[in-house]
Amino acid sequence: MREDFWHERWKNNEIAFHQNDFNPLLQKYWPDFSLNTGDTVFVPLCGKTLDMLWLAQNDFHVLGIELSPIAISDFFDENDLQPKKLIRDGFDIWQLNNIEIICGDFFDLEAQHLNSVDAVYDRASLIAFPLDMRNRYVEHQEKVLPGKAETLLITLEYPQHEMNGPPFSVIPDEVNELYKPWQQVVQLRRNEILDKVPRFKEKGLTTLIESVYRLSPLVR
Ligand SMILES: C[S@@+](CC[C@H](N)C(=O)[O-])C[C@H]1O[C@@H](n2cnc3c(N)ncnc32)[C@H](O)[C@@H]1O
Repeated sequence: MREDFWHERWKNNEIAFHQNDFNPLLQKYWPDFSLNTGDTVFVPLCGKTLDMLWLAQNDFHVLGIELSPIAISDFFDENDLQPKKLIRDGFDIWQLNNIEIICGDFFDLEAQHLNSVDAVYDRASLIAFPLDMRNRYVEHQEKVLPGKAETLLITLEYPQHEMNGPPFSVIPDEVNELYKPWQQVVQLRRNEILDKVPRFKEKGLTTLIESVYRLSPLVR
């Protein structure tokens, strides 16, 4: 997806992907990650997800990256937070206490920007990209993420011919193919959720499966 696509979505408030509550799968699986108070959680393609607030309230340092300044501004405004804005390495950064959101393109991040990252939370980020960009996204992650960072990944699967993405359908075989060169991939859950998401039924989907994975870097 080109940047313009996402800027238009935010401008027109076409953000059905946004959830008005904390993600229950984050709440369920995050405590199993071996993390310490104050560890940094990277949230790629963060939008204005409330999950950043949940992570911050649970004493993690949150580092998000998001293309749209509207999303970032909404995140702070809607949660009654007044961030300060700074510029670092050419990126606009919005920061308050233990939440820092970089306004920019994920693909412009370098290892030096992420060297404090201890874990990654990816909900609706991998699946926001079409196939060629998913390959690029994972290759770039491998380049810029510290070797120790585990990931909680949440994906969707459905017959791709029934709907155009995003979100794109990403099956377990693809997750394995994408990550296996550098991550151990463990599927934690795989559930049919179509009945809970009427907007996808209305678009003609006959099935919608949500999966949760834990990705752990291979020791090299
Ligand atoms: C499907 S939304 C998911 C947002 C968030 N993860 C959530 O769960 O609500 C994808 C987000 O990624 C942003 N985005 C798309 N491409 C990006 C890129 N290359 N770099 C940074 N953000 C990007 C979009 O603006 C959009 O807010």
